[in-house]
Amino acid sequence: MTGTTGQISRTAFARNQWYVAAYGREIGRELLARTILNEPIVFYRTQDGGEAVALADRCVHRRYPLSAGRLDGDTLVCGYHGFTYDTTGTCVSVPGQKRVPRTARVRSYPVVEQDSLVWVWIGDPESADPDAVPRAAHLADPAWRTVGGMETVECDYRLLVDNLLDLSHETYLHGGYIGTPEVAETPIVTEVDEGAGTVRVSRHMDDAACPPFYARSTGIEGRITRWQDIEYHAPCLYLLHSRIAPRGVLPEPDGSDPNAFHVEITYAVTPSTDRRVYDFWCVSRDFAQDDEDVTAFLHDLNHTVVMQDVDALDLLQRSLDTEPEGYQELSINIDTGGLAARRILTRLAAEGEPQPAHAPAAAR
Ligand code: FES
Ligand SMILES: [Fe+2]
Repeated sequence: MTGTTGQISRTAFARNQWYVAAYGREIGRELLARTILNEPIVFYRTQDGGEAVALADRCVHRRYPLSAGRLDGDTLVCGYHGFTYDTTGTCVSVPGQKRVPRTARVRSYPVVEQDSLVWVWIGDPESADPDAVPRAAHLADPAWRTVGGMETVECDYRLLVDNLLDLSHETYLHGGYIGTPEVAETPIVTEVDEGAGTVRVSRHMDDAACPPFYARSTGIEGRITRWQDIEYHAPCLYLLHSRIAPRGVLPEPDGSDPNAFHVEITYAVTPSTDRRVYDFWCVSRDFAQDDEDVTAFLHDLNHTVVMQDVDALDLLQRSLDTEPEGYQELSINIDTGGLAARRILTRLAAEGEPQPAHAPAAAR
């Protein structure tokens, strides 16, 4: 493929989609504030059912952040003058008068808790289908041991999508951690399903150096077979199926794979504002599940890798912000997955835009 030129377009969000707002463990009886797709939202868990609740984080009275208030049972009391809201966002009491104005309500957002993640729907609530939340079942499966965290990156969320879909950067940005020369050298295979909004990028290395991330966690010495199979479910969920085995060891004909080590690397990419993204990351493994040294090592090393990306993307965004309007990029083969993702995100964002008003019907 010869290079193609282009430019990342203005930020537009796909609103009618599910986004990861938090890990389930982050939501409890303390109020948690997150801004998602430019909307300030407050999260908490009910006392009785333990359900996650998501309300607009602005009081209808004077717009004070409700996250600066407090819970009273399952109701949320504004910390400024005490307007009190139930879990549906309806104001149930105001100070100094019996009658609560009919319009006193804040927005409540559909929420789904699944696979240890809390997903929120920002767009039209009528379109929110809980069955459409993509799965990451390994995160809550006891057969896998998972470590994770969340970082905030000061960039357009699509720069993070780009970053994750092109792992050739591991060789340069993460050399000595997860990158080895073979990652950048090995061509990728990309499959795109525009309708389903999924992009798959695979890179199978049959004879590669073993980076410290895998050498120290698996104990493998010497060269390895390393497979990276990315599955991106636009806009939010990114799964990297990683298979590590001593060089030459392949799965059995029946598909079982007892002599390989498997790591599922999960990211959730949740736009916060036009220039900020929540970067949820998890590393799950199917080996040495009880070895706390391996757990701590994989957590710390992956955190270091994530911070290398955070620093690079912060720098890239600051640099792009100084570019004149109409700057050009040059894309090559490694960008095929990232470009497909951009196309899908642009389409999903357009689907969420309000439709143009209909022309008035002709007089009869
Ligand atoms: S701003 Fe919330 S009660 Fe006044
Ligand atoms: Fe990276």
